[in-house]
Amino acid sequence: MTALPEGFLWGASSSPHQIEGGNINSDWWVYEQRSPHFTLSGDAIDSYHRYEEDMRLLAAAGLTAYRFGIEWARVEPLPGEFSRAELFHYRKMIDTALSLGLTPVVTLHHFTSPRWFIEEGGWLGTTAIDRFSSYVRRVCEILDGVEWVCTINEPNMFAFMILMARTINSDAVPEIDTPTMQGEGGFVLPRPLPETSRRLVEAHHAARAIVRELTPAKVGWTTANLALYAESKADEPALLDERYAREDIFLEGARGDDFLGVQAYSTQAVNARGPVPHPEHPDNTLVGTPYRPDALEHAVRHAWKITRGVPILVTENGIATADDGRRIAYTEDALRGLAAAMEDGIDVRGYLHWSALDNFEWGHWEPTFGLIAVDRTTFKRTPKPSLAWLGEKAKTGMM
Ligand code: BGC
Repeated sequence: MTALPEGFLWGASSSPHQIEGGNINSDWWVYEQRSPHFTLSGDAIDSYHRYEEDMRLLAAAGLTAYRFGIEWARVEPLPGEFSRAELFHYRKMIDTALSLGLTPVVTLHHFTSPRWFIEEGGWLGTTAIDRFSSYVRRVCEILDGVEWVCTINEPNMFAFMILMARTINSDAVPEIDTPTMQGEGGFVLPRPLPETSRRLVEAHHAARAIVRELTPAKVGWTTANLALYAESKADEPALLDERYAREDIFLEGARGDDFLGVQAYSTQAVNARGPVPHPEHPDNTLVGTPYRPDALEHAVRHAWKITRGVPILVTENGIATADDGRRIAYTEDALRGLAAAMEDGIDVRGYLHWSALDNFEWGHWEPTFGLIAVDRTTFKRTPKPSLAWLGEKAKTGMM
């Protein structure tokens, strides 16, 4: 057992589009209607109205932190037009978390952008950095008392959605399935284009400077930590190449941050042709990835090395499964690996499980990651045994 540092956070994570519902000004609202692969987010799980109940369940179980996001498409529904009502809404969420004893970890951008922003040219357009910066500036006005701010979620996964965004000004149908699901052909995500990666690093640094200027919060971004490995010795050069383009460029972008949000689920082999499709296997998760709880330890060790020692907050780790016992087993193992990394001196500040609730998995409802089940007709929440289990861990102060 590893004794945890004072203030170590134990919590769960979410993102606005996946739980709120009715995100009609966002780009994803459009993609969902256009893509033959996707089902609609619709009302999602109505957390826009039920966030207090959600937070109460987490706090009652014993968790001490909740990661949630602010939805840009709501806060700035038209270019330069900010909604005071929406800013108040998110301020109320922060107050609710604080009053329940949950440390809020606030994400500024989690995959969705306002539809107008994409139509205007999006992340590769000439206005991108200014637009994002002015949104971040407004949001900083409501962040009083927030200690942890994540600028952009998983730029490496998000780079793929920037390709999808090219379809928004035409009738073209987004060709690729959801960013987080491994299709039958295996790893479906193309490599991020270098200009996209550079632009996202630039956007992160711009947001980081603003958050630092206007708030005392710790600021960082959260990356998809892919735990890539070479299929054979001969594939090592290919691994370095893929790993740089898909992950390390973003970890380098975190140098100088106050923390890095590590997000790990599974591992991924690489050979000379790129990421190797995952063979079908009865142990695979509901998003088609192998069952690899050790991914978290690999991810944390690699991130620590490439960022050159930026403190780590695990902002996502979990498993898509309908079997909650398996979720507990997976998480238990993942935490064992995390504890081993901490024993070796890696500075980890907290563990936030993905996800607080079963939610909209980017076009799909079947993959369930939640500690809490939700009936999508009545919106009734039912905590799973894994929530109580994680809450008990939190109370021990040990890992
Ligand atoms: C994302 C989440 C997603 C989760 C599970 C991460 O890629 O940040 O939005 O639901 O993984 O696939």
